[in-house]
This record gives sequence, C-alpha cells and structure tokens, in this order.
Amino acid sequence: MLAPMQGLTNWALRKTFIDWVAPDVVWTEFLRVASRPGKPVLPADRKDLQSADPNCPLVVQLIGGDPLVLEAAAKIVQNLGARHVNLNLGCPYGRMTKGKTGGTLLQEPERVLEIVKRLRDVTTGGFSIKMRAGYENQEQVFELLPEWERIGIDFLVIHPRTVVQQYEGKADHGITRRVVEATSLPVIANGDISSGAQGRQILADTGVAGLMLGRWALMDPLLFERVRRPDLVEPTEDERLGILRGLLERVMDDYCTLFCGEVQTLHKLKNIFALNQWPALNPALTSLKKARTLKAFHRAMAGLPTVPEVPPPPAPAEGSRPD
Ligand SMILES: Cc1cc2nc3c(=O)[nH]c(=O)nc-3n(C[C@H](O)[C@H](O)[C@H](O)COP(=O)(O)O)c2cc1C
Repeated sequence: MLAPMQGLTNWALRKTFIDWVAPDVVWTEFLRVASRPGKPVLPADRKDLQSADPNCPLVVQLIGGDPLVLEAAAKIVQNLGARHVNLNLGCPYGRMTKGKTGGTLLQEPERVLEIVKRLRDVTTGGFSIKMRAGYENQEQVFELLPEWERIGIDFLVIHPRTVVQQYEGKADHGITRRVVEATSLPVIANGDISSGAQGRQILADTGVAGLMLGRWALMDPLLFERVRRPDLVEPTEDERLGILRGLLERVMDDYCTLFCGEVQTLHKLKNIFALNQWPALNPALTSLKKARTLKAFHRAMAGLPTVPEVPPPPAPAEGSRPD
C-alpha cells in the first residue's frame, strides 16, 4: 500500500504510482472532519476522493475527534463513492485539527471506542484503523486489539512507534510481530521500510498481511517493485535521481491542472523531495529547490540523470509451474 501522506498523496500523485508501479491499495491524505454546520467534509477533499482510479482500491481516511461528526462524515464520503473508510489514530501533530484527534485520541480510549463502534456501524464497505503502537506506552495496542476484533474491523495498519515519539528512533517491527501473533485480524506493517530486502524481511519475520510504504517510496516509486522482486538491487545515487526525475515528469501535467498558479505548483512539486531520506542526494537537488519558475524547474530536471531501465523479471526456471 502507498501510505497516506498529507499534502502529498493527492489524486495526481496516486495516479502516477498506480500507472507506474501498481500498488495494491492507495489512500487519500487524511480528510479533516470537523463540526462545520452541514459540512463535515471540505469541498477539496470531496473532489479528491471522487478521483478514485478504477484500477486500484482507494482507502478514504478520516481524522477527527467528535464521534457524531465522524459518523456523519463517513456517511457523506460513502455517498460520494468511498468503498473503504479508515480512521487515523496515528497523526502526532495536534495542530492539524482542533481538539484531540489522530494519535492524541489514544489518550482517551473510551472516546476512541465510541468512534470506532459508530464508524463500523455506519460503514457498509470496508473499515480499518491506522494507528501508532500507543500514545506514550507502546503496549497500548495490545489492550485495544480485543476491542478491534469484537467490533470487527477489516484490517489494522500498525506504525510501531508511540505518538509522543513522533518520528524519533526506529519503528520497532518486533512489536508488529507481536501484534500479528496476538490477533486474528489482518495486520499491515508500516514504518521505516527503506529497501526491497528490508520489506521482504519484515514480511517474513512478522507474518503481516502486507506492507505500507511511505517516505522512502515517495521519491522512489520503484521501491514497490524491489519489494516484489528479489532479483532487483538497490539503485545507485544517480539512479535514484533518475527515478525522481521520472516521477516529477510524470506528475508535472496533472500538478499544473490540480494546483493554482506557478507558485503553488512549484511548492507542491518541491514537497515531493522535501523529505529526501538520502542526504548524499542533497547537492544534486539544490537546483530543483532553488527554481523560482516552472521553466527553471524544467531546466533543473533536465540536468538530472535519466530514469533507469528496470530489467524484465527473470524467466521462470525450467520445469516450474506458473501459479
Ligand atoms: C508528510 C507526511 C504526511 C503524513 N500524512 C499522513 C496522513 O494524512 N495520514 C496518516 O495516517 N499518516 C500520515 N503520515 C504518516 C505515514 O502514513 C506513515 O505512517 C509514516 O510516515 C511512517 O511510514 P514511513 O516510515 O514509511 O514513512 C504522514 C507522514 C508524513 C511524513
């Protein structure tokens, strides 16, 4: 799955990933649900979720803290076509919304349970939860698992850090393995998956039903391909830059229609590599970062290496049977 990333995983970026590397599932950015008379879901969010691609299931993620308003929002997004609703119990940044929402809701387990029950009752398609291991105690998830089972969620995405940790330290996939052992629910592992080999290792070590790729896939969609294909090696620095160039070229036209004017479009394009996880690439990104016009951005892009070729999958060994 391609992780939801606020400010980034808009329909245009999702479409590029779907066309290029075919994730099994993509997610909207979180939809901020708040008490606005008659309008718990913002018009821009409505538009975004209606751009679901017929080739890939879309999870529509809600973030909020008021059970009744979240329930109303779930009805609205389903009327707009959402087939799967997710509740965000992970976002560590209180400033995103008023009151306790996202990961900070884990400080109020009773309220969380009410929200989850209401959302499950009102959701006719799939319903899932994406959460941190806990608010400040990484064992909190184990207290909640029996409730998730009783209420009947469809799957759980676990990012095994606490909310207070934000992005400090490392995601501890030993916790992911214990979550898988403790529940019959399908579990998806998320957090710090940075290479194909590591993704496959987490699948093997934890027994999760799947992986969710976030920051490392953002500049490098081919990470999806490398998780699937052990024959592919990690790219060189030049190849990473080539992959980023391929991504920017692919989103360019849609970004120019989606965003208003040159300043906003440039800002959104630059966001794609603002979270660059490979410091060695920073010098090569300077000219892209400095571009003040789309023309200058195009010139800087043309200075990057070209997209590397992905070799075709190896032929099946003689005598092996296709699935
Ligand atoms: C810029 C940014 C925006 C994010 N927005 C969301 C969001 O809208 N909803 C959500 O559930 N998680 C959000 N996350 C968290 C990611 O989905 C993911 O759980 C986290 O980055 C860990 O995965 P990673 O290590 O592969 O990046 C966001 C993360 C980042 C870096």
